Amino acid sequence: MTLRQWKYEDILRISELEKECFGKEAWSYMMLVSSFETDTFIGVAAEDGGEIVGYGGITVAYDSADIANVAVTEAFRRSGVGGAILEELLARAKAKGAAKVFLEVRVSNTPALLTYLKHGFTGAYTRARYYPDGEDCLVMAKEL
Ligand SMILES: CC(C)(COP(=O)(O)OP(=O)(O)OC[C@H]1O[C@@H](n2cnc3c(N)ncnc32)[C@H](O)[C@@H]1OP(=O)(O)O)[C@@H](O)C(=O)NCCC(=O)NCCS
Repeated sequence: MTLRQWKYEDILRISELEKECFGKEAWSYMMLVSSFETDTFIGVAAEDGGEIVGYGGITVAYDSADIANVAVTEAFRRSGVGGAILEELLARAKAKGAAKVFLEVRVSNTPALLTYLKHGFTGAYTRARYYPDGEDCLVMAKEL
């Protein structure tokens, strides 16, 4: 498995993975393109045998960063890919000057919560009924 920055031609595959991992709430192809074209955005892709099996994105503004997404195709989960993408995003954000990172996660998303806890994030506060289906979101934070 290798990690590298997104290329424009990766976005179609990344949008397929978005749909697979997030269903109705997936970012559209155009949303991914628009992030990709933003100067403050850093996208990391995990590749295995020439195929993208996971990806993540982070936006850095001055000393603060926000994780936009992290996802791994089902067959490759629980083998460290998500954690490796996360660490790569954090390292790249730190290199751009970020000192603190935030993310939002559904309170029921146990795999994601456990992944973020394992990588040093802690719960900061919740936003009640944040998602369209009424679920709360937990905002997590980590100092770099
Ligand atoms: C969250 C996600 C990216 C994690 O990716 P992953 O490649 O499975 O993560 P890792 O293998 O690095 O796991 C990291 C740790 O998190 C915990 N963990 C992850 N998934 C878990 C699960 N299903 N059950 C229990 N613990 C889990 C474990 O502690 C794991 O470490 P271990 O395997 O050494 O015990 C993946 O589950 C995913 O793509 N989910 C769907 C998309 C999503 O919800 N993204 C997050 C949006 S906020």
